[in-house]
Amino acid sequence: MGVAVSDWRLANMVARNGQLGVVSGTALDSVLVRRLQLGDPCGAIRRALSEFPWPDMAQRSLDTFFVPGGKSADESFKLAPLARMRLRTSLLELLVVANFVEVFLAKEGHSGPVGINYLEKIQLPNVPSILGAMLAGVEVVLVGAGIPMAIPGVLDSLSHWETVEFNLGVEQNPDRHSYVQRFDPREYFTGELPELARPNFLAIIASDTLAKTMVKRASGYVNGFVVEHHSAGGHNAPPRRVRGADPDAPPRYGERDLPDLEVIADIGRPFWLAGSNASPEKLAEARAAGAHGIQVGTAFAFSRESGILAEIKHRVLREQKDGTLKVRTDFNSSPTGFPFKVIELDGTVSDEETYAARERMCDLGYLRRLYAKGESNVGYRCPSEPERNFLAKGGTMEDTIGKRCLCNGLLATVGLGQTRDGVSEPPVVTSGDDWAFLPHVTRGDDVDYGAVDVIEYLTRPVGAAAESDSLRNLAPRSV
Ligand SMILES: Cc1cc2nc3c(=O)[nH]c(=O)nc-3n(C[C@H](O)[C@H](O)[C@H](O)COP(=O)(O)O)c2cc1C
Repeated sequence: MGVAVSDWRLANMVARNGQLGVVSGTALDSVLVRRLQLGDPCGAIRRALSEFPWPDMAQRSLDTFFVPGGKSADESFKLAPLARMRLRTSLLELLVVANFVEVFLAKEGHSGPVGINYLEKIQLPNVPSILGAMLAGVEVVLVGAGIPMAIPGVLDSLSHWETVEFNLGVEQNPDRHSYVQRFDPREYFTGELPELARPNFLAIIASDTLAKTMVKRASGYVNGFVVEHHSAGGHNAPPRRVRGADPDAPPRYGERDLPDLEVIADIGRPFWLAGSNASPEKLAEARAAGAHGIQVGTAFAFSRESGILAEIKHRVLREQKDGTLKVRTDFNSSPTGFPFKVIELDGTVSDEETYAARERMCDLGYLRRLYAKGESNVGYRCPSEPERNFLAKGGTMEDTIGKRCLCNGLLATVGLGQTRDGVSEPPVVTSGDDWAFLPHVTRGDDVDYGAVDVIEYLTRPVGAAAESDSLRNLAPRSV
């Protein structure tokens, strides 16, 4: 869960308690440089950097971004370079190092398995990011938000230290030129190269058709699937268009958006169900349908160990306990064009007033889309950047309406938001639709719970749930 919601602390706790702990791989370069500018108070980042196999490279990130004692609150963060088709060496190094750090810390002190999650839509940093995660021994790579055909082949090539040629998706490209990002790891990493195990690859999908296509046409072996329902947190797959339906009608999910689990089970690869499955009963149902297990997001995202700022977590949890929390699928706000689940909270980007008050700016650029500029060149644009810039790059006004800067918003949610001239970026908060787990992991009115409480609840025998919950609610409150 990005950005840095499932960070190394949460994944470490989950992995050391017998489950697959997954860190978010989104925007880790910015996460690293900002944590270093906050002074790395617990020393974890510097500890991980000291284990990076190429010390000079790790040292360069420290030299450029570490601020002993931390920057002052009103000072702006210095930025990592923006990603481009040809990545600058300084960014490439940061990506490798940052992904190494996150996975290293998630794996530290136990032998449980750790995965990392990337978004297909964020194409430019993915290949060096994956290499960094593999250097730290990541066991599973999970990719969604798009159709990740190329990723299994990338994992194969990197595990042999071979050159990767990554075909980029480029808009406004009527002549179908191909734009390739080439990455030869041996250009950057010299000396004795460590052996790299090929991680398992799980494609995050929402349809059985896509699962079959991935198995047939992906660039390498697909080890399994996460089958995500549209009630899940974060981005969701768009609803399928119904033939003959009114094109102006608001988008809506229906029966056709539910994958056929029998078809997926028949493929014969392990799969996990995601979205509104956080209960022992749902876990049992998932297994009965042939799934290996479930992937749970929301219940962990608001647990003590996640990266979301404590004050935001507690506000959300109190609203949920009071019955006032509003989660909605926003079909328009994400620059990716995918639906995005938002929690409606004052002072966050979901609130119209806060949105209107924010001056548009694009300085992180993860969600910029590439567009063709001649045979070998591409441009970069984001519908949430200042409108005039987007229009000058051939974008349409219609595309810009209501678009939110998720890059800055999501970093603010985990306490890494930018401040410019005394103005701080507002956060944006996402969750899934299903909060039924909450009374099972908290006591009375208390809203504090840990990832272990979630695991303990999910792994209870089905019949045991009711009894131990009533005992839990009798226990004294720990305010
Ligand atoms: C705060 C939050 C952030 C998320 N971010 C991502 C993400 O970056 N990439 C992704 O593939 N899924 C993301 N998800 C989806 C989860 O990985 C998971 O599939 C989903 O939350 C499961 O449904 P549940 O929330 O009902 O448990 C996110 C979910 C939440 C709650």
